[in-house]
Amino acid sequence: MSYQPAFWGVVPAAGVGKRMGADIPKQYLPVLGKPVLQHTLERLLSVDALSAVAVALGREDGFWPDLPFADNTRILLAEGGKERADSVLSALNRLAGLARSDDWVLVHDAARLCVTRSDVLKLIEQLQHDPVGGILALPSSDTLKGVAEGIIVDTVDRNHVWRALTPQMFRYGALKQALAEAAELGLKVTDEASAMELKGHTPRIVEGRPDNIKITRPEDLPLATFYLEQQCYA
Ligand code: CTP
Ligand code: MG
Repeated sequence: MSYQPAFWGVVPAAGVGKRMGADIPKQYLPVLGKPVLQHTLERLLSVDALSAVAVALGREDGFWPDLPFADNTRILLAEGGKERADSVLSALNRLAGLARSDDWVLVHDAARLCVTRSDVLKLIEQLQHDPVGGILALPSSDTLKGVAEGIIVDTVDRNHVWRALTPQMFRYGALKQALAEAAELGLKVTDEASAMELKGHTPRIVEGRPDNIKITRPEDLPLATFYLEQQCYA
């Protein structure tokens, strides 16, 4: 019988939320009465295909124990690092001995609480037979401009530009190697796909939903609240 790759989740949740400017990290701010990270993890855990989700937390995180995941056997904890990529690598290392090299890992930002189960399933369905993997992404509906010092230098063909979202889904072994090498070379990668691209891999894109926003600034909180409410009635 041939080996069927398993699926694992990885959630970097060790950021400080500087741009949000709140007095607690943004992944613990309440939205509709629940911390952001709780929304995010509940949505990922609703996908039965995920064997477990490794969550990278900040070293000083005192908020996690208040979330209702203490007895959840599908949640594993890791210590986050300085940059997002360090936190992801730490969570990947937590899966060592559990995940096999060809297994799939879906890396998802803690701050994207509006991700839908249907988008996660779509990503899995469209990529599970691909050798490399890929990411949820959104085509740009605005015209895009290249700018230098406040002056437009060119107009970018928007058919060639997509916005990278998460989850980003890659093979466990290849992703760990790509992130470890980028770290060794001191290259800053802000998502998993760029680490894979640096290694010469060719990630695919799968069109995601526009409501899969990353809460970044204060004005994103009412927007996320609105999207979550709309999804309940969808
Ligand atoms: N993240 C992480 N470890 C870090 C930095 C970020 O796990 N060292 C996580 C964040 O918790 C977030 C995700 O990566 O869920 C996306 O990062 P971002 O939106 O930039 O969050 P922050 O870094 O917390 O925000 P800011 O950049 O405004 O400080
Ligand atoms: Mg950040």
